[in-house]
Amino acid sequence: MPPKSSLVLGLMSGTSADAIDLALARISGAPPHLNAKLLNHTSINFPPQLRKEILRVAEQQPISAGELSQLNFRLGETFAEAVLTAARRFRVAPNKIALIGSHGQTIFHQGQPVPYFSRKTASTLQIGEPAIIAARTGITTIADFRPADIAEGGQGAPLVPYADYLLYRHKKLGRVSLNLGGIANITVIPANAKPSQVFAFDTGPANMLIDALVAHFTRNRQRYDQNARLAQQGHAIPALIDELMRDPYLKLAPPKSTGREYYGRTYLEKLLRLGQRHKAKPNDLIRAATIFTALSIVDALNRFVLPKTKIHQLIVSGGGAQNPLLLAQLSAALSNQVVGVRFSASQPAGSQHVAPQVRKMPAPTKIEVLSSSQLGVPTDAKESFAFALLAYETFHHRPSNIPSATGARRPAILGKISYAPPR
Ligand SMILES: Nc1ncnc2c1ncn2[C@@H]1O[C@H](COP(=O)(O)OP(=O)(O)O)[C@@H](O)[C@H]1O
Ligand SMILES: [Mg+2]
Repeated sequence: MPPKSSLVLGLMSGTSADAIDLALARISGAPPHLNAKLLNHTSINFPPQLRKEILRVAEQQPISAGELSQLNFRLGETFAEAVLTAARRFRVAPNKIALIGSHGQTIFHQGQPVPYFSRKTASTLQIGEPAIIAARTGITTIADFRPADIAEGGQGAPLVPYADYLLYRHKKLGRVSLNLGGIANITVIPANAKPSQVFAFDTGPANMLIDALVAHFTRNRQRYDQNARLAQQGHAIPALIDELMRDPYLKLAPPKSTGREYYGRTYLEKLLRLGQRHKAKPNDLIRAATIFTALSIVDALNRFVLPKTKIHQLIVSGGGAQNPLLLAQLSAALSNQVVGVRFSASQPAGSQHVAPQVRKMPAPTKIEVLSSSQLGVPTDAKESFAFALLAYETFHHRPSNIPSATGARRPAILGKISYAPPR
């Protein structure tokens, strides 16, 4: 008898807090014979006032315990409404959906333990109360996936690598899955990899700096640089990009994760100061942030990935996959990839000058840059699809962290379950 399949809805809102992304999948079986088919996906905008409050709180601006509690429950209501709207758009009755996997809205993430009341502590907080989602939708909801990994000594992030592994593992091709949300993260899946060979980390910013600059210069009239229109009008300022490339986060060895705590307001202020020093016009600075973003990803591949394993393809997802300048920079740098070079922004896009090689480097490689859509997962559905998969695994009592990606001591069953009301 074929395994029974379930409809699972993944719900994701990333660090950009631009929209709630929902993906409906039909899932059956168990790894290594898990079958997951993405049926539909949609995005629903955040109510603007809530978005403002989320961004404020995620910047670590003061909030009282009472307000935080209110925000958690209110977001639960917003997520529940998004689920019901999505179900209508998909023409699926909510009672046909077996399970929701809700990532929640990250408002704090400290994956690496830091001193706190004389003891090192790591923690993470994703909000959007799942009991509310389950009650309003009548669908069992799994949420709060990250803490179980932190409890095992991991960084609680990234968690999408489990889905990347299931979706993209290839017998002959080494692949890197790159998601360009607010932050850029990669999952490295060597050819024919075992789960223990998969590793992943945040390379640095993706859209976060670009969005912050655009919002700043347009006084919030625009939220992002649609199709890189502004950046394309800017001039390159190589010395500025060279300075950005000295960002100490880029040199930190993985596993590592980052967020608004680092690439948020303080970083924006640093960028604006740098811009002034280099006499950059607004569009020059947006261009610099876009190029820096692309080069920081290439730098991460050069430093931490290519010396270890051969990569044939880079599979790009997330909102940043719609940014043509970001993608062009990536493709240019990687199609002409010579490992061990330092990328100098003083060269035209894609060209490099060779610096003394300090590490032993493998032979030069060319890496093909693909959109996840070309492999059947629309760029804006990848992460929500991943949380549908994670919820399905948790519901079946199976672990879905990848310890080599998060640094956890062992596999963990992720998330907490809010059951649907009795029928
Ligand atoms: N057409 C586009 N041109 C340029 N950037 C885009 C475009 N569409 C989306 N983006 C970028 O993608 C971001 C949202 O990406 P997303 O994957 O939803 O991030 P997150 O997971 O952090 O919410 C937007 O804030 C914007 O910067
Ligand atoms: Mg988003």
